[in-house]
Order: sequence, then structure tokens, then C-alpha cells
Amino acid sequence: MCGITGYIGYRDAYPIIMNGLKRLEYRGYDSSGVMLFDGKNINLSKTKGKVSSLEEKVSQEISTEGSIGVGHTRWATHGIPNDVNSHPHMSQSGNLVIVHNGIIENYEALKQELVSRGYVFHSDTDTEVLINLIEEIKTQEGVKLGQAVQIALNQVIGAYAIAVFDRAKPDEMVVAKLGSPIAIGVGDNFEEFFVASDASPFIEYTKNAIYLEDEELAIIKKGRKVRVRKIKDDSAIDANIQELQMNLEQIEKGGYEHFMLKEIHEQPRAIIDTLRGRLLVNEGIIKLSGLENNMKRFLNAERIIIIACGTSWHAGLVAEYIFEEFVRIPVEVEYASEFRYRNPVITEKDVVIAISQSGETADTLAAIKLARSKGAFVFGLCNVVGSSIARENDSGAYTHAGPEIGVASTKAFTTQITVLLLMALRLARAKGTMSSADYRMHLQELELIPQKVEELLKIDDHIKEIAKEYLLSTNFLYLGRGYNFPVALEGALKLKEISYIHAEGYPAAEMKHGPIALIDDRMPVVVIATSKGHYEKVVSNIQEIKSRKAKIIAVVTKGDTSVRAIADHIIEIPEVEEAFSPLLTTIPLQLLSYHIAVMRNCNVDQPRNLAKSVTVE
Ligand code: F6R
Repeated sequence: MCGITGYIGYRDAYPIIMNGLKRLEYRGYDSSGVMLFDGKNINLSKTKGKVSSLEEKVSQEISTEGSIGVGHTRWATHGIPNDVNSHPHMSQSGNLVIVHNGIIENYEALKQELVSRGYVFHSDTDTEVLINLIEEIKTQEGVKLGQAVQIALNQVIGAYAIAVFDRAKPDEMVVAKLGSPIAIGVGDNFEEFFVASDASPFIEYTKNAIYLEDEELAIIKKGRKVRVRKIKDDSAIDANIQELQMNLEQIEKGGYEHFMLKEIHEQPRAIIDTLRGRLLVNEGIIKLSGLENNMKRFLNAERIIIIACGTSWHAGLVAEYIFEEFVRIPVEVEYASEFRYRNPVITEKDVVIAISQSGETADTLAAIKLARSKGAFVFGLCNVVGSSIARENDSGAYTHAGPEIGVASTKAFTTQITVLLLMALRLARAKGTMSSADYRMHLQELELIPQKVEELLKIDDHIKEIAKEYLLSTNFLYLGRGYNFPVALEGALKLKEISYIHAEGYPAAEMKHGPIALIDDRMPVVVIATSKGHYEKVVSNIQEIKSRKAKIIAVVTKGDTSVRAIADHIIEIPEVEEAFSPLLTTIPLQLLSYHIAVMRNCNVDQPRNLAKSVTVE
């Protein structure tokens, strides 16, 4: 994880680096640091804590002059978050500086070797080992910085995105990538360059970017084209400059107090963008080129395996219900982290759908590689364009949710389900498992979803009132059945991660097999009881909980009377086909978590111990 920024050019580097770090804080925020070169001195400041703490420290500690520098915001892997372990790290001579995102797995062995050559280490990090390894290699006669970095990287095992600065070459920077993302923003006439973990830090300066591929190294020098080489064999590569589609507005809060709230409210637009050009209701067509071009693979598949983590895994669980019902194909949903390490049976007849918002989740990426190595066909479903997972598959589709910055995933979840619904409907038609009347009806219903979500978002104040009553609760249960069982899991995850209240999601009927023992008059239970989803059964489950005196917050379909009579709080969603209901029922649960977390003074956008993009396993 961690976020990297860097700048070489003619502007003041400091504000560009700091602004960039703030935009990258979603990647980690337990410590941060900055290095600036003023033409003579390397000025470096770093601290435990967020970028705002760094700003304070910098103002007391160093000069902010200079048109070249690097910055880092950290999510600790090796070594606790403290000032010393923060990046940037300097080499022993004080001439080289590095920022690093990733893990060097064999750092202990490399460290011992360097210690035997007289190197002294100040931090517990793998990164300090890497910069000293580069320094050691560079001491050899005639070895330039780029070569030294390349030789060092050929000795390390692990993952990295790095930017390296050398006092001896103050208009140059070396960046390299394996497993962790890095983008290079290219200014006009190559007069300035930006380096960052994603393009958000430089979006207002340039729309031209190079995304390094794994095992590539780039030498950036002011006034010269970027030179890219393969780390393994030193072969030259044409740097592919892409035009960015992102704009500044998309990555700012736009008047909302938090990114999470903004992103919850963006869902109608995000779903419309995801459906645009793909759902053609009048023509009765669904167009998803990644699916269309590989229709045979999907139709001949003996099963679909879905791999993902966290919220994306919950979207996968919803898809299991959808695909099995619509397409009548067996579906297995796996945590990517379990899948990759349990020697799974995978055949060439399997289609694997990998779901990831960031497209950088290390476990999902590794699971994809494993599935492909066994001959399975892998379809990637990502939000971040050009991300590693988007590139590492046989085919795929994007969710067009736009940048998701709040660490808790919201619009990514609903847009993932939207694409999965499109896929299932298209396949059901191709396979003949859904009648044409049903198919058309579903298409029409799907088109109405954004407007139903819009309508639902108006109940925000009502949810806020409910939140007030439960902000001091220490435990929550979330129950749902069928399509809404994964929504119960997702509701519980949202509450846990941003409010630090313990919460569990269960299939409603599983209550009596254990969790019912937890229930007393202090336990809030959120139950999803939509009118078309085993309604009577869920009502019975609610009765069982009520008779144990729990507080019931029920999500029901508009017009419901039975649950209203029993529940303590009612949240109504517009009437909808059951398979589409997760797109609605999840919205009040997102809002409930959000308001409880805000009332508990939690940092909603950057919850403790988390990071947006989990690039370590
Ligand atoms: C929860 C959350 C995480 C992610 C998980 C997978 O709100 O954000 O559980 O869903 O880390 O991330 P992606 O989808 O980027 O692979």
C-alpha cells in the first residue's frame, strides 16, 4: 500500500508533493514524509501521523525550497509507524533518497550482507535496506544510478514501486515497478515530470501519463523523453503516453463533509455511467464487449468462480445468487486470499470473474495469475482504469463509478453489482434460461434503478435520527436472506470499519443456530425484509428476535405493514425486482454506518489501520 509522489521541473515541488500526498492518503496514513533538494542540500522531514502532522513538522524543521523532491504516505508493513520508519529513507552516505511502496521479502538476508560490509541501519524497514543496496552497487566503478537500481532490483524478491533520487544527478529520478502501481505525469516538452501511485496528484498539471508495467524501470530527466527499460534484461521499451480521462472535480469533496458521503450520493450517477451504452432497453440489447467477444467461453463454462476480497467479495456473493438464478450455472465465490493458497481444482472449462475496485489488491491479482496458469478464462471487473488487475486478465469490464476515495467502499459495490447483473442478463438470453418477456422486464427495471436510488437517498435525515439512538451501541447484528444475505454482510462490514462497533452479518435463518444467544434488549438488529425476498420467513425471524427484546431496524419495501407493526424503526425502499434489491437495500446501511461513525467522531474517510488499496498479501 502506501502512496508515493515526486516532482522534477520548474515549479516549487513542495506544494505539489504535499497536495499529492493528501490525495494519496487513502493508500495509507500512519506516517508521512517529504524530501526536497534546493540545489545544494537535501532537506528531509518525516513523522508518524497524517500528512497534516507532516506539514506542521516541515514548517518548523526544513526549508521548502526546490524544484525536485519526493513524498510518501505510509501504511506500515515492516516496522511500526514512527518517525524513523517513515519514508523517505536515505542511504548511508546521505546522497541517495528513496520512497517505496511494497515489500522486499528477502530484506533480512540482504541486510546481513550489507551489515557485514559496514552499513548501519537506523530503521526496521525493508526500504532502508534497498536504498543501501543501491548505494553499495553504485560504489562500483562506472555504475550509474539507473544501472545500480536495476541491478539491485534484480536481487530483491517482493513487490515495489519506487522513486530514487541521487544528489549527484539533481535533475533526474529513477522509478521502477513490480506489483505496486506507479504513474509518471509528463509535462509539456518534457520540462516537468510528476511521479505518483496514481494520477490524482498531478491531474491539474497534465493529462499525459505513463503507467509503468511490472518489471519496468524509467529514468526521468528534465528536458528529455522518459527512457523505459525492462529490469530483467535491460531491453528498451517505448514509453506509452496515455491521455487521462479523470478530472479534478471527481477527486474533490464537492461540498460534502466526507468523501464517503459524496460517494454514497454519487451512486445514481455512477450506476447511470456504468449502464451507459451497455443497457439499450428499446433495442432489448445488452452490450458488454468483454463478454460479447468471449461468449463461447462463457457459454461452454461448467462453472463460474468469483474471486475477490472485502466488499468486492460481497458483490461476488450477490452475483452467485444472480447467476445461478438467471443463467443456471454453478457459481463458487472465493476469498482470493484463500483461493490462491489452497490448491483449488481449476480447469480449462472454468470461467473466473475477478472483482476489484482498485484493481491492485495483491491477493486478487495472485489468484488471477494462479487461475490463468491452470488454463481458466479470467474476466476482470475493476473500477480503476489501467490498474494491474485490469491488465492481468483475458477479458473484462470496467465499473464506471469514478474515483472512490473514501476507504469504505460504497459506489464501487453498487456498480459492481450493476455490471454483474448486465452480464447475467446477457448470458441468460444467450443461453435461453430466461424468457424474452422476463428479459425485457428486467431490462426496463434495471434502467429505473438510478432514479430509485436517488429517491432513496432522500431518507438521509431519517437514517440520521436512527443513528442517534445507536451511536453508543457496542454490537450490531445484520440479517438478510437470499440476495440480501450478502447485503447484511456488507452492512456489518461498513459499520465495523468506520465506526469500530463490532457487527456481524448472518443469513436470517441462521440466527437460531447460535447468534440468537447474543440477543438482549441492548442489541440492535438490522433486518432486511423486502416484499419479494422470502418475506414471510423473514417476518418470522423478526418475531423471534423481537420476543428476545432486541431493537429492530428493518429495511422493508414501501407499503409494508406487517414488519412496521413489530420493528422499532422502519426504512422503506422503493418496490423493486428482488434480484435488483441489493442495489437499494445497501444504501440505507451505508448511510447508517456513515452517520453513526460521524457521531462517534471517527475518521470516516480514513479509518484506523485500513488503506484503500491493499497491495500486500
Ligand atoms: C471495504 C473495503 C475493502 C475492499 C477490499 C477489496 O469497504 O473497501 O473490504 O473491498 O480491500 O478491495 P478491491 O475491491 O480494491 O480489490
